[in-house]
Amino acid sequence: MIKIITIIGARPQIIKAAALSRAIKNKFSNKINEIIVHTGQHYDENMSNVFFSELQIPKPDYNLNVGSAGHGKQTARMIIGIEEILFREKPDFIVLYGDTNSTLAGAIAAAKIHIPVVHIEAGLRSFNKKMPEEINRITCDHASTLLFSPTKTGFNNLVREGFAIKNKSPFTIDNPQIYHCGDVMYDNSLFFSEIAEKKSDIINKLNLKKNKFILVTIHRDNNTDDPIRLNSVFSALNKISSENKITTVLPLHPRTSKLLNKNLSKKLYQEIFKNQYIKIIQPVSFLDMIALEKNAKIIMTDSGGVQKEAYFFEKPCVIIKKLLRIKLQLLPMQMNKKLLIHIIILSKKIN
Ligand code: UD1
Ligand code: UDP
Repeated sequence: MIKIITIIGARPQIIKAAALSRAIKNKFSNKINEIIVHTGQHYDENMSNVFFSELQIPKPDYNLNVGSAGHGKQTARMIIGIEEILFREKPDFIVLYGDTNSTLAGAIAAAKIHIPVVHIEAGLRSFNKKMPEEINRITCDHASTLLFSPTKTGFNNLVREGFAIKNKSPFTIDNPQIYHCGDVMYDNSLFFSEIAEKKSDIINKLNLKKNKFILVTIHRDNNTDDPIRLNSVFSALNKISSENKITTVLPLHPRTSKLLNKNLSKKLYQEIFKNQYIKIIQPVSFLDMIALEKNAKIIMTDSGGVQKEAYFFEKPCVIIKKLLRIKLQLLPMQMNKKLLIHIIILSKKIN
């Protein structure tokens, strides 16, 4: 029996882990014993618990309850907790998803005590090291033994960073193996899409009309923490929704909720909450999110996961992103330079 420890912590990791846990439960339960460790990075009911019941993910075996804090304190608390569990459980592998502080903590804790790291979503790069996620993903990749990239571009990034295309087993941190494989998020979108159609009633509940609303998510720190950018984003949403008389639904991430009051000008804050076309709601469950994505006319987001799902469901998507260094051929349209908001129209043709 192979023993693995899966680290989850932030909302998208809980969702991603559903795909692998499902495969283990259905096909490999006699070969793989999965122990789930929740770092507690996300902890609100609608950022964590809701996904366990809805996506049939086994309840975590451990919860470190680290909560929110600055990068150093939060990551350090996670490393301490994860290391203790690794010593106790002695797993064959640790499995990490994506690029959050929970990913970084898992990589550092495991690599230092010689537990092989499996990184799912390896090789993805923004080429912007001011993003905490870029530091997390590069560090995690270079501490990993098995690296699974969901895209050819990601695979090639790893090759460019010195990973060999093929090594001979046994694989180790010094002799890692990279793979271009499928995407757990795509697995989940396929698997839960029909279930969402049957089970979600969010479209009726919010009184929405199919293909007649914009779905928006905003949470990236470089959009939320800088008042100039946050004002720019929300003043654009205010204008787009009222000028086009189109309902705009924002399931708001707690980070953004907490910063609206602080970082928006008083005038804009009042306008947003008076705007009859803007519906600010709590974060929604994954089934509700899929239903919103599939029924939206257009999606606007700075979320890595939501932009991918827009593509999976063939919805036009506007990516709200600060651009420092990005390959120009990826930019079909660039505007609003003055405000430093770069909007990329991502259509089916790209990707
Ligand atoms: C984190 C990840 C980001 C990912 C996102 C997914 C890092 C560095 N960032 O960003 O890559 O895209 O999760 O959603 O790991 N908060 C709550 N309740 C919660 C969780 C957070 O109120 O359950 C608030 C707290 O005020 C907290 C803030 O949100 O300080 C930010 O949370 P944090 O986990 O630090 O970063 P995210 O912005 O969520
Ligand atoms: N999501 C959700 N409810 C919401 C917003 C997002 O279930 O209210 C899902 C979304 O469908 C996707 C994942 O959360 O699968 C993306 O997570 P998030 O945007 O928090 O982080 P990122 O992908 O940017 O790291």
